[in-house]
Amino acid sequence: MADARITLHPDFRRGTVDRRLFGSFVEHLGRAVYTGIYEPGHPQADEHGFRRDVADLVGELGVPMVRYPGGNFVSNYVWEDAVGPVEERKPFLDLAWRTVEPNLVGTDEFLQWAEREGIEPMMAVNLGTRGVAEAAALLEYCNGGAGTRWADLRIANGRAEPYGVKLWCLGNEMDGPWQIGHKDAHEYGKLAAEAGKAMKLVDPSIELVVCGSSSMQMPTFGEWERTVLSYTYDLVDHVSMHAYYEEHDGDRGSFLASGTAMDRFIDRVVASADAVGAERRSDKKITISFDEWNVWYLETRFPGESNLPIQRDAPRIIEDVYSGLDAVVVGDLLVTLLNHADRVPVAALAQLVNVIAPIMTEPGGEAWRQPTFHPFATTSRLARGTALDVRVDAPSYTTSRHGDAPTVTAAATVADDGSLGLFLTNRTDRTVEVDLAHVGAALTLTEGHRMVADHEPAEHGPEHAAKVAQACWSTLDVDDAVIGSAAGTTTLRLAPESWTAFAGTFARS
Ligand code: AHR
Repeated sequence: MADARITLHPDFRRGTVDRRLFGSFVEHLGRAVYTGIYEPGHPQADEHGFRRDVADLVGELGVPMVRYPGGNFVSNYVWEDAVGPVEERKPFLDLAWRTVEPNLVGTDEFLQWAEREGIEPMMAVNLGTRGVAEAAALLEYCNGGAGTRWADLRIANGRAEPYGVKLWCLGNEMDGPWQIGHKDAHEYGKLAAEAGKAMKLVDPSIELVVCGSSSMQMPTFGEWERTVLSYTYDLVDHVSMHAYYEEHDGDRGSFLASGTAMDRFIDRVVASADAVGAERRSDKKITISFDEWNVWYLETRFPGESNLPIQRDAPRIIEDVYSGLDAVVVGDLLVTLLNHADRVPVAALAQLVNVIAPIMTEPGGEAWRQPTFHPFATTSRLARGTALDVRVDAPSYTTSRHGDAPTVTAAATVADDGSLGLFLTNRTDRTVEVDLAHVGAALTLTEGHRMVADHEPAEHGPEHAAKVAQACWSTLDVDDAVIGSAAGTTTLRLAPESWTAFAGTFARS
């Protein structure tokens, strides 16, 4: 008998997979911008100073949307200092990361890079040290037509056409005491409502994201969402969620169950938002913008923002080096996000380049893929159309950090043409056999990829990342992965501590 049973039915549907679920994040932090996406003088730099090799990897990663410019950085950012002639811009002391920001890349440079690369921008406004007027002015600068002050400034700066930025974050992690201009829920809720109101008067077509809690561990979690949404429910479209996961003290079982923690976090935020809606007798549903998520060794490797010395020239900050195990967890977190496609249309892998990132660079040198690149790129490529409501019957195991968690997880998507994306994680340290029951449509698997957790990177650098990829990441022979086939059931074998993706078809006959 198989260890787990997974049932797919074409009529059991969770929701449409919004492409913005595969977003990422570029903050003015460390080497994300300077010597990350932007490095004039690099052999691969284009005429605007942006690295072609990095942009090509971003394309391969399958990122349709990028959040910018922060993050903690945005909460003390003066966007006006980083527009207009570059030679007139002054360096600025960013207090969030205690770094001298040279202001060589600002709103226009970023938005034009995104446009050239076919990436939708998601912008954040500063509600830490600034307020309603500056937020409305930035939106007018980006989206306004000719004839008003800030739009005319953009035109004078060489950009006639409005950028048409749709997605806007009302600040960042405003519940966090580390945030410059941190506020309590009432202060922030009122400010977000007023800033959002002004912004929708500038451009009613935008979507607004209000800050939720910085993590489920925040002491104000729940109460924060309730209070903030009580001020902003009718105005905003999404509430943000942020979560980072890491392995503590070699506890692989808990780390591998990070997707279960994310799953519960989403359920709780959805319940909090719906409770506010229910009290207001509203039919509107607030959705989630999970605009920071990743593996980040925050507690075990990061000294904390306030311990960073003041630095300049793109310092190396939080350049985590990832293992196969980290990549399995990233794949599994994507399984969770897909299984919430009905309420999570927007998400951002934090971050994109050099800072807790799937893409790394060396100044003047090459750009390369971290192990986490592979499950992300594969999911972004294969997950199309509708996320199915996959039924998984698998035994649970007990973890010290997240209680009981399923040993096997799965998500599946089907596009209009019947193409299937199937994503599975085996969180146990042994091979498991899974019966895949397919009801109501014929199933064919044509392509498979697997990440296993068994190799730690020795050091930072392209050779080490390549060694991990060689040891952990492989293209599967589907005939080897499929160990049995009977009417309506395909039996698969999943390697220990692995994440596996299949492409195929799931089409009604
Ligand atoms: O992604 C790194 C940081 O994590 C972001 O600046 C902040 O929003 C979060 O705490």
